[in-house]
Amino acid sequence: QLVLDVLDREGSIKDTRTLTLPGSNEPDASSDAQITILGALNSLSSREMIKYDAHEVFTHVLTAEGAAIVKDGSHEARVWNALSSTPVPAADLKKLVGDETAKVGQGRAFKNGWIGKTGDGLIRTAETISDVTQEELKEIQTTGSLNAGEKVLADLRKRKLVVQKKGQWFTVKKGAEFSTSIAKPETDLTSDMLTSGKWKSSKFKKYNFEAEGIPTSGGALHMLLKVREEIRSIFLEMGFAEMPTQSYVESGFWCFDALFVPQQHPARDLQDTFYLSDPAKADQPDKAYYERVSRTHEHGDYGSIGYRAPWQHDESSKLLLRTHTTASSAHMLYKLAAKCRGENVDEDEQGAGVSQTSAEGTADDGFRPAKLFSIDRVFRNETMDATHLAEFHQVEGVVADRNLTLADLIGFMRVFFQKMGIEKVRFKPAYNPYTEPSLEIFAFHPMLNKWVEVGNSGMFRPEMLEPMGFPKDVRVHGWGLSLERPTMIRYGINNIRTLVGHKVPIDAVEASPAPTF
Ligand code: PHE
Repeated sequence: QLVLDVLDREGSIKDTRTLTLPGSNEPDASSDAQITILGALNSLSSREMIKYDAHEVFTHVLTAEGAAIVKDGSHEARVWNALSSTPVPAADLKKLVGDETAKVGQGRAFKNGWIGKTGDGLIRTAETISDVTQEELKEIQTTGSLNAGEKVLADLRKRKLVVQKKGQWFTVKKGAEFSTSIAKPETDLTSDMLTSGKWKSSKFKKYNFEAEGIPTSGGALHMLLKVREEIRSIFLEMGFAEMPTQSYVESGFWCFDALFVPQQHPARDLQDTFYLSDPAKADQPDKAYYERVSRTHEHGDYGSIGYRAPWQHDESSKLLLRTHTTASSAHMLYKLAAKCRGENVDEDEQGAGVSQTSAEGTADDGFRPAKLFSIDRVFRNETMDATHLAEFHQVEGVVADRNLTLADLIGFMRVFFQKMGIEKVRFKPAYNPYTEPSLEIFAFHPMLNKWVEVGNSGMFRPEMLEPMGFPKDVRVHGWGLSLERPTMIRYGINNIRTLVGHKVPIDAVEASPAPTF
């Protein structure tokens, strides 16, 4: 408004440093004031109410040392002040004016002819002095420049008493849309304006093509899905193929028996596993395979003494919600061994992740190495608490090849977890009915500052692999982990209900970035 009023009264503004800003009572040439004015000029010129030109100036401002000289005099003047006609030893001068002033001031005072030296010390030689440096600095402090000119200014800069500062000032003219009041332009063209014809006389605000715009709202991947994508890409990058895992419902046979989990195992209890009531029974698996599995359980085979407990077909045919994705792995491994069983299979049918070469020099017994993975939902009849739900996701990988060793499994684990950003891993002997040896995997969690269990793994037992038809030298190792745990760690979530269910904060889902591993 000040700019508009002055323009209205005087036609133009030749120098904005002459303006007296509201709230002040004298013209303000400071760079802060000019920055404030520039804001107003930009806003007025975008409405074409004014035009302005910017000019650069160099002003000088005092350093802390310069300001001290204005207050107490230059070093040389302070030295002269401390002396008289009675000689003062140089060491005493230091005590009077300080080391720094004594050092800098003595030389200049000598040069000016203000002081002299006798055998006993320093004395005044000038009756009166005029402290030119102090006077110059005073002038700079009030005007920002010096009449004496650039040569003296350059010397003061070199002495670090002043610094040069770049500033701006402006000349202002009326623009095409000049007016003394700022009209609020229309921001929208409305149907009312169109029907009344008001649009013809309306002033519209210019489009700002630089504006960022309102973020569009769209779907966002849930944290679990983001982490699942990341882990999936790690598997794919390592040459794994994804297993089909769409069957949430499995039979006791595929979920447990095929894996050599004893029929009396507590994991198969009602307290741990959800069973289906309708339909309650599964179809019979391939008869020959079924008999090999039941025989291995009941009497033993393939070098195993078995569990020597009566086989119950009823237990085997129960339908249930799978308790682990290892049930799907069992289906896939059984399929992988088809050719070893002498069945006719189209090799293309075996899918990706299955190597088409058999080891050199060995007779082709139909075995093809494979690397398979899955990430999907499993169900357990758990007591629900802050970290457990009755359903969660398992990440699982299996590798089948001849003569794999435990070292292969450990090496694989290290690489896999390293790709997930987990560098420090430790292995602990564990027990699984279907693997021997079995290893629990622990990772060091820097935020929690402790080792946490991140997975379970092992070499599948011959009692599981040989009934499927795999040759004796084929080893399969596998590992599993939950998807929820790394996701909760990654996003710092400590209650599972923040991740799954009706309490999930939607904005947190939208704001959570994809993991970096
Ligand atoms: N199925 C195991 C679990 O639920 C994980 C696992 C998979 C262990 C493969 C060994 C081999 O914890």
